[in-house]
Amino acid sequence: MNSSQIVESTAAHVRGLLGADATGHDWHHVERVRRNALAIAREEGADLFVVELAALLHDIADWKFHGGDELAGSRAARAWLESLGCEVSAIDHVCRIIDGLSFKGAGVETNMPTPEGAAVQDADRLEALGAIGVARAFAYGGAKGRLLYDPEHPPEMHASFEAYKKNAGPTLNHFYEKLLLLKDRMQTGAGRRMAQERHQYLADFVARFLAEWHGSG
Ligand code: ADP
Ligand code: NI
Repeated sequence: MNSSQIVESTAAHVRGLLGADATGHDWHHVERVRRNALAIAREEGADLFVVELAALLHDIADWKFHGGDELAGSRAARAWLESLGCEVSAIDHVCRIIDGLSFKGAGVETNMPTPEGAAVQDADRLEALGAIGVARAFAYGGAKGRLLYDPEHPPEMHASFEAYKKNAGPTLNHFYEKLLLLKDRMQTGAGRRMAQERHQYLADFVARFLAEWHGSG
């Protein structure tokens, strides 16, 4: 198979796997990450084949839905790409990106060492910001049975991935624990630029939510 056939079969495979997800990790999320990752990668001069494959495969077996297993995603991606006869160096790079992608808590660094990884991580993080970020956070919270907000349950700044994984707080806490921290953790110039307006929208949303909740808005 040539590169474009590998990309197209992978897209069809992922679409089949994630089509019915209702937690914000559906095929449309993957398509938006693919588009933004490629746009960022062009600006950064990154390898577009690796970026496109990593973007397509990044959520096929997320730890959040696989009993906390952090390596389930890269294992599934490796098996798939091997079945297509993809070259080993590209598979290894895609798998390293998938393993390093996730946010792991306010106190945990998740820097990406290659421009390809930085492009995919920034594109995935843009999806946690802006109007789509708000929608995805509450979709995820609903799917997990979480409260919208609870004034008696303050946010926690998680110092380890273990603590972050166990968290089951109300969805508004997630804005403080992750979403509002992302703009300062973008790894590329393009990602940082795209994050600004989306971050402001999130901050305005939280301010307005709290004003309405407390009867002052
Ligand atoms: P990551 O790789 O950083 O985990 P994902 O692409 O898997 O990112 O998507 C994570 C998204 O899922 C978050 O941006 C948010 O919208 C939603 N999410 C994850 N955890 C929570 C949570 N505890 N509360 C609300 N939303 C959450
Ligand atoms: Ni994602």
